[in-house]
Amino acid sequence: MELKFILEKAANEGLALTFDDVRLQTGYSKVMPDDVNVESRFSRNVKLKIPIVSAAMDTVSESKLAIELAKLGGIGVIHRSLSIKDQVFHVKRVKHHLNGLVEKPICVYEDENISSIITKREEKGYAFNSFPVLNREEKLVGIISSNDFEFCGDSSLTAKDIMSTELLTAQEGLSLDNAYHLMQKEKKKVLPLVNQNMEIKGMYVFSDVKRIKTRSAENYNVDNKGQLRVAAAVGTGDEAIERADALCDANVDVIVIDTAHGDSESVLQTLKEIKEKHEVDVVVGNVSIGESARRLAEAGADGIKIGQGPGSICTTRIIAGIGRPQLSAIYDCAKAVEKFDIPICADGGLRVSGDIPIAIAAGADCVMMGSMLAGTEESPGNIIFSQGRQWKGYRGMGSLGAMEKNKSSRERYLQKDEEKNKLIPEGVEGLVPYKGKLKDVVFQYVGGLRRGMGYVGAASIKELKEKGQFDRITSAGFSESHPHDIEVTIDSPNYSFKK
Ligand code: XMP
Repeated sequence: MELKFILEKAANEGLALTFDDVRLQTGYSKVMPDDVNVESRFSRNVKLKIPIVSAAMDTVSESKLAIELAKLGGIGVIHRSLSIKDQVFHVKRVKHHLNGLVEKPICVYEDENISSIITKREEKGYAFNSFPVLNREEKLVGIISSNDFEFCGDSSLTAKDIMSTELLTAQEGLSLDNAYHLMQKEKKKVLPLVNQNMEIKGMYVFSDVKRIKTRSAENYNVDNKGQLRVAAAVGTGDEAIERADALCDANVDVIVIDTAHGDSESVLQTLKEIKEKHEVDVVVGNVSIGESARRLAEAGADGIKIGQGPGSICTTRIIAGIGRPQLSAIYDCAKAVEKFDIPICADGGLRVSGDIPIAIAAGADCVMMGSMLAGTEESPGNIIFSQGRQWKGYRGMGSLGAMEKNKSSRERYLQKDEEKNKLIPEGVEGLVPYKGKLKDVVFQYVGGLRRGMGYVGAASIKELKEKGQFDRITSAGFSESHPHDIEVTIDSPNYSFKK
């Protein structure tokens, strides 16, 4: 990583800077914003098509948002203020949303009744409606699809009563290309693959195969089986190990050890235990000092999350008096772990799209967002109408409400066993404006990043990290940066300025 003059100079003077203290300098450019490559990594082995990660918070990241974000090329981190069962449910929902070849299709037996199949589907969080039907000799005898469920007026009937027996099957080993042509020709939505004994060996689903064939899924962030990628948060200690076991069984792509103070013995011990038991990437945080980041890297972390107190809902810096302005924290940590070749995730404090290229130029590989993704259609919670506007709830995981509700939130702030009236919150709870669909919001964020890269002359995230240089700005420069001497009357999709 090139030395960043202003950040290095500030560090030498014991001065820590953040986003609004700097702006990126422009440089000679041969690249057009539309042509830049914004691919990056969240962890050692897990790539991103766009460098955006959603925060592990109960008002941000559950399966609905994680599915949409992975389809846009990023990754969601399912929060841990959920029972292990519920967190696994959300992970499975993401993993089962899309498939190239479904290697182990979920089947039902012909004598199972419809109400128990519907209950199972809801309990397990299956987001699909087509189930191959087997007899008790494990042979494929039919298929139930969404139509069969929809037109079934009596849920005491069995699978055999409503299934379709006009089956299109193919021998195991059929390629995706051939499956696509066959299903298109025969107008079938699912294609079970069988062996000579009619035992099921896989299944293609037309909508997924079509997406892959027509490249409409080119930007999706998928694993090597064609399933959407998802991460999930754990804490520390025995409960974290139990959680990680269940999440790995559900094929989670990344485990995130999600704590307020990542440079601690319990975090290092948990990291060691998870790495010993599972072949999964583990991202660890949060830290803000280079030495802490190096300790985590040496202990085997596959990615490091930076941020102590920059978040929009954080009060840690005020309540505990600790933390470091985010840009200096990113720079120090990225520099400290350079030789380990693991990505850095800049977590929290971003307010506008222009903060993304700034975080990356300081050394981050990707950014984690809470408030910038909260308030979207896909974030958990309902729209609230107040003062003639639409809002959604957003709260810190260390806010009183979150800590009172869930032990995991208390644990994040080392108050697991505290009585409710003895809690010391490190976050606040409130409302953010309703922002509409995630895809429109993320489009603007990535658009801002692309434009920043164009101005710097950086064709890739790596080049932005190398070439990006900063000017330190004053409060006069800051107010000059925003619109001034005008009463803004028309909302912009990517800008609103609140003093
Ligand atoms: P933004 O700025 O994106 O920040 O809304 C999201 C990040 O803030 C962290 N977080 C907290 N930090 N008290 C804190 O000090 C809290 O209650 C709290 N809740 C979340 C977390 O790292 C998240 O990704």
